[in-house]
Amino acid sequence: MPLKYPRPKGTHDLYPGAPDWQDDSGRCQFLEDQFRALCRIYGYGEMRTPVFESTDLITRSIGEETDIVSKEMYTFVTKGGDSLTLRPESTAPVLRAYLQNSLYAQGGVTKLYYCATHFRYERPQKGRYRQHEQLGVEALGTDDPALDAEVIELALAFFRNVGIRSLTLKLSSVGSFESRAAYLVALKSFVEPYLPEFSAEGQARFQTNPLRLLDTKNARELEILAEAPVLSAYLSDDERAHHEALVGYLADAGVSYQPDPFLVRGFDYYTKTAFEIQSPDLGAQNALGGGGRYNKLVEEIGGPPTPGIGFGLGVERALIALQSLAVEMPPPPTPTAYIVIQGEAARSVGIKLLADLRAAGIPAETEYGGRSVKAQMKAADRAQARYALILGDDEIAAGTLQLKNLRDGWQHHVPLAEAVEWLEGGGSRRPSP
Ligand code: HAM
Repeated sequence: MPLKYPRPKGTHDLYPGAPDWQDDSGRCQFLEDQFRALCRIYGYGEMRTPVFESTDLITRSIGEETDIVSKEMYTFVTKGGDSLTLRPESTAPVLRAYLQNSLYAQGGVTKLYYCATHFRYERPQKGRYRQHEQLGVEALGTDDPALDAEVIELALAFFRNVGIRSLTLKLSSVGSFESRAAYLVALKSFVEPYLPEFSAEGQARFQTNPLRLLDTKNARELEILAEAPVLSAYLSDDERAHHEALVGYLADAGVSYQPDPFLVRGFDYYTKTAFEIQSPDLGAQNALGGGGRYNKLVEEIGGPPTPGIGFGLGVERALIALQSLAVEMPPPPTPTAYIVIQGEAARSVGIKLLADLRAAGIPAETEYGGRSVKAQMKAADRAQARYALILGDDEIAAGTLQLKNLRDGWQHHVPLAEAVEWLEGGGSRRPSP
């Protein structure tokens, strides 16, 4: 039946047990939990920001000529006349919040993480959606390359912990705005004579955002660009030293990487370190995550000079990779107790028992709708409950319940007053047969 109100294109519903893992709320929650736990170990605290921000913040920080700003923003004008944009990423919002709440006044390094939903009006395909979720960090307050190594290592540790091991870390330095400007002059003068051979898109990039020329998949353009100058040759001594120190720290941490002089990230704010983590298990959208340094961004949005570095990891893409690798994840919890009720008197006792069990932290379920005992026992099996707690008129009269272990069929009468205690002990009070 055609749906009257289907969900918007490029979005997902997440629910328990969805066949596509990226739609499974339980698996998504598992990744978030793992990420939060890891961030606590690395000393990062959570930052939550609004889902919309002023449009100016987004355009100023990401860059007018980027695809995100020029093509992909969800921008709207409020009834009050303000232009707001659904956040397409979290770096600028987190830095805005860092300034607004004077976190820089604490001195030292401020380490923040987020689990946030982002919106980009992209052409939807597997692994690329109009609404996606990222797990990310932003660490602010120092230019020390050891922090770059920590941030990269944290991202890799996350993937390792959840079971994605076949990863490639692509690493480069995109220099400062000054060294990049000098490089772009060289790149443009190299490309200019070949420009007629470039695609319409390549020619447009040449005019508006020449660094993006390097991001092509066009075979002829790649062939031409193979001879192009590389950005690493234009780095200042400080930028080169930063990169070499980072590479050394990564070696200390046992992290291997692939240098990628043509790594282009879709944001103008990066300075020095840029990286991407790719997976062969993803298909065309092979970036599981990416990040880099942005030493001028806090100033750009009106704050004191504050260097920083961070990354964002795509939750949907991690789930696609995990599914294609068939990585085991903890199964959703099943009830310990399933209360099976026969008759109205038993129902009121059963409802009280259900509340008592739950109050004691014991996962407990029951059947609604007054079906037969047989149907209720089937439902208990389907829910994979460990014990059925059967309550009928006879049990109520005797002040007991019949407890049945659904794994091995063992049955026992337990005084009603002791049921919670019995289950709290995980059935350890079970008498020997
Ligand atoms: P990004 O590379 O645009 O970086 O996004 C980070 C990750 O989010 C990507 O590698 C990808 O896994 C996932 N992702 C991005 N767009 C989509 C989409 N349309 N559908 C599904 N997944 C997507 C940033 O956003 C930067 N703010 C990262 C950063 C933090 N840099 C420094 N700090």
